[in-house]
Amino acid sequence: MCGIVGYNGKNKAVDILLDGLSKLEYRGYDSSGVAIKNEKIDVIKAKGKLTNLKEKIANMELNGTCGIGHTRWATHGEPSENNAHPHTSNDGSVVLVHNGIIENYQELIDKLEKHKYKFYSETDTEVLANIIDYYYKKYQMGPMDAINRTMVRVRGSYAIAVMFKDHPDDLWVARKDSPMIIGLNNDGAYVASDVPAILKYTRNVYYIDNMETACLKKNKVIFYDLNGDVIKKELKEIKWDISLAEKGGYEHFMIKEINEQPEVVRKTINSLLNEDNIDLSKTGLTIEEIRSFKQIYIVACGSAYHVGVCAQYILEDLARIPVRVDTASEFRYRNPILDKKGLVIIISQSGETADSLAALREAKKQGIKTLGIINVVGSSIAREADHVLYTLAGPEIAVATTKAFSTQLIAMYAIAIQFAKVKRKLNNKDYAKLIDDLKLLPDNISVILKDKQEDIQRLSSQFPNLQDAFYIGRGLDYAISLEGSLKLKEVSYVHSEAYPAGELKHGTISLIEDGTLVIGIATQDKVFEKTLSNLVEVKSRGGYIVSIVSKNAKVDKVSDFIIEVPKTNKYFYPSLTVVPLQLIGYYITVSKGLDVDKPRNLAKSVTVE
Ligand code: AGP
Repeated sequence: MCGIVGYNGKNKAVDILLDGLSKLEYRGYDSSGVAIKNEKIDVIKAKGKLTNLKEKIANMELNGTCGIGHTRWATHGEPSENNAHPHTSNDGSVVLVHNGIIENYQELIDKLEKHKYKFYSETDTEVLANIIDYYYKKYQMGPMDAINRTMVRVRGSYAIAVMFKDHPDDLWVARKDSPMIIGLNNDGAYVASDVPAILKYTRNVYYIDNMETACLKKNKVIFYDLNGDVIKKELKEIKWDISLAEKGGYEHFMIKEINEQPEVVRKTINSLLNEDNIDLSKTGLTIEEIRSFKQIYIVACGSAYHVGVCAQYILEDLARIPVRVDTASEFRYRNPILDKKGLVIIISQSGETADSLAALREAKKQGIKTLGIINVVGSSIAREADHVLYTLAGPEIAVATTKAFSTQLIAMYAIAIQFAKVKRKLNNKDYAKLIDDLKLLPDNISVILKDKQEDIQRLSSQFPNLQDAFYIGRGLDYAISLEGSLKLKEVSYVHSEAYPAGELKHGTISLIEDGTLVIGIATQDKVFEKTLSNLVEVKSRGGYIVSIVSKNAKVDKVSDFIIEVPKTNKYFYPSLTVVPLQLIGYYITVSKGLDVDKPRNLAKSVTVE
């Protein structure tokens, strides 16, 4: 939940570190700090947003060409300058930044205090600086040995960048479970928690695996395994362009990413099509394997979980395969009974969400095949899943997911269609029709973005003091209403609930009074009349009805505001109705003047449970 960055090269490190941290603030922004190697190692930290650190550094002479930086999301010890990173060993000879959690830190503190180490912060990270220092001094075998011994000794997750006073020309890094990427160009070597932080300097990156260490020299990077042996690594090229990592002229990353959906949905569809056939071969899943699956379990968190709820309706109806959907934080501890002929699908944008990673390991422990639907290449879930289907949303910066969500829907449609075909539940004509409709989705989404944004902005500006909202629907419309409700809650801090429309009269309808905002989604022909009568029930209690429907649906009598989406295949409506739902969340938040991209109490990737 933090962002780390490091540089060792020819140029002034401080500028590169601050620039990199500004691209990582979505990972955590309650405090930050840098350490720069000059005569000695200068450590500067500040509580709050990165701007506070920049102000502190503004008039300081920091000309060193080697340094590390950190932007924090507090887990151990409340946000403060003292708890901010970098952390140093007692005598300052080891200085490091860390993303992750050291689970046995208290045990290590007790051990180190016996060796006269003192601790100034409440963090688990300070322990790392001292335990590395302890091994460094005890065994006199150099930085790599000290870090490797530490990796054997500590339990938890970490990505660390370490500087040793005695080794002024080297920057050391190591990781287990937390994300890390290493870049190289003629000006030096770079390390960061995520691509956007270094994309401005290089597209050539190395992926460092769990329990590996690397030494970043000014012109090369050397990798070591836990035995201290050198490992050869291949430089890979990142294809994302810089503008994707920056706002591209939009006011916020969220609205930029909402408008990037046609393009990334098209990219993801094309990556799953071979001519006019769904092609899942990149996942490594074979036809025999697909045919053998008797049960599917979809496990995820937050919005990714909502993709799972949508997929359940489609997979069961289209492929006639039983599907169970779980939130990962429950799945990992409820000792689930898993069918040996089952497939566990983990959906995650970041690929680093701790509960989803643990759910994956739980499934693997039970010997169940696993498939990850992941957006971040090289992330932990992607590395550990048996099969991976990458979504092509590109870097998603706004904490509230939008484009990644839409690409995950596409991935699940492709899986449902192919599983139905392989299990002979779909004839060729219907198969071809589904693929034709799928290919039209990017244009359908463009139409909504072109025609409806202003309308929705006008609608949202009517609710600057909104306190409560309800989202209702049936079937797939109910599934997507869960996402609509979360989108509003997480960025605008407005309390909202999503309900199966048929559930309202069993209690919640008592909350409806004059002017209560109710967003009704009604695209499913089979239950359209039923949903309409539920909207009438709400209307008669004074609800203000916003209806999201397919073109020409007859809802004007019950609706105060109608948002039409283009007609599409009944299974694909979530991809269309989610766009107005995202825009309502966005524009209501903008009308309240809130920080859309960095909502309070949230972080983009939840790497602790
Ligand atoms: C959604 O907008 C939130 N950022 C959050 O609910 C998110 O979907 C959840 O934390 C899962 O993240 P993941 O997809 O990276 O695993």
